[in-house]
Amino acid sequence: MEKIRVELSKNLKAKPTDEGKLGFGEIFTDHMFVMKYTEGQGWHDPAIVPYGPIALDPAAMVLHYGQEVFEGMKAYRAEDGRVLLFRPEENFKRLNASNERLCIPPVDEELLLEGLKQLVNLEKDWIPHTFGTSLYIRPFIICTEAKLGVKAGSEYLYIVILSPSGAYYASGLNPVKIYVESQYVRAVKGGTGMAKTGGNYASSLKAQDIAHEEGYSQVLWLDGVERKYIEEVGAMNVFFKIGGEVITPALVGSILPGITRKSTIEILKSWGVPVSERRISIQEIYEAYQNGQLEEIFGTGTAAVISPVGELKWEDHVMEIGGGKIGELSQKLYDTLTGIQWGKLPDTMGWTQEVK
Ligand code: PLP
Ligand code: COI
Repeated sequence: MEKIRVELSKNLKAKPTDEGKLGFGEIFTDHMFVMKYTEGQGWHDPAIVPYGPIALDPAAMVLHYGQEVFEGMKAYRAEDGRVLLFRPEENFKRLNASNERLCIPPVDEELLLEGLKQLVNLEKDWIPHTFGTSLYIRPFIICTEAKLGVKAGSEYLYIVILSPSGAYYASGLNPVKIYVESQYVRAVKGGTGMAKTGGNYASSLKAQDIAHEEGYSQVLWLDGVERKYIEEVGAMNVFFKIGGEVITPALVGSILPGITRKSTIEILKSWGVPVSERRISIQEIYEAYQNGQLEEIFGTGTAAVISPVGELKWEDHVMEIGGGKIGELSQKLYDTLTGIQWGKLPDTMGWTQEVK
């Protein structure tokens, strides 16, 4: 494995003192991880360097055609002082899956994990202490080649930045209000929906703005062809508890294969809760709501953790779920998942990795 060069910053920043006001992704640490790719040479020169602006040629292809992928993960500070990562190998596996779709050369997942551990270890004093806060980790790759022809690039930059963060939603664990989008679509089968790439998020902003104007936190996307079947929420996968069964849309190619989604399914199965991955329509949800069978809705994601949904708006129908309270299963899943992530519960699944 190539040795990681370390260049320490001479200007260390003041760390935030009020952990209640961290927000999400607003503050960045003193160092970042960088690595270049050059055709013929492969990925080279991995290094930890002072955090700061990067120079890009104005013709860099990422700026014109959006050849980019990213990941989202977290480092957690356990009560006993250990620093934990949650299934980080899954994120690097997904990064390579996104790379494959975006024609970006694959990265060495072991090197990325080693680089991440070294970076987090160096920056561990930035990990906030309050339960529920963490160090959000954002690895990403951009095409840096300067050329205006549309093609896969020959030069890339991989970067990891770190941000001490609080809850993704200002409401914390309080139920969020979600707007079902019937006009705009996020992705279609054969598109880039299953990849974590910036363009998916750029194209979602229009609908998100409309949802915000109506007082909703995020959009629930329907399938791009029939606009009938549930896909996912802006930054999380979605689960429904209907008549005792938990249902989440199957991974059909247009939604992101969330690591929190996968973990949630595994936890539910270990509890013996019936869970199915299948096609589910918004009409079925509405009918379950009308019949009094719709018990809970929650979203799953690294940033969002387990986010109970308290209200769903679909066209003229406003569905209120759980009387504005967190559902029993959502709460139990939140406690279990965060218990494992923050090292409060024994990690019987072998999901955490210590950074030291
Ligand atoms: N869906 C979308 C569109 C996302 O941006 C995210 C966040 O990463 C997720 C789902 C949840 O994925 P994960 O649980 O891996 O964070
Ligand atoms: C994450 O949950 O890590 C994400 O990447 C969501 C992000 C779009 C804010």
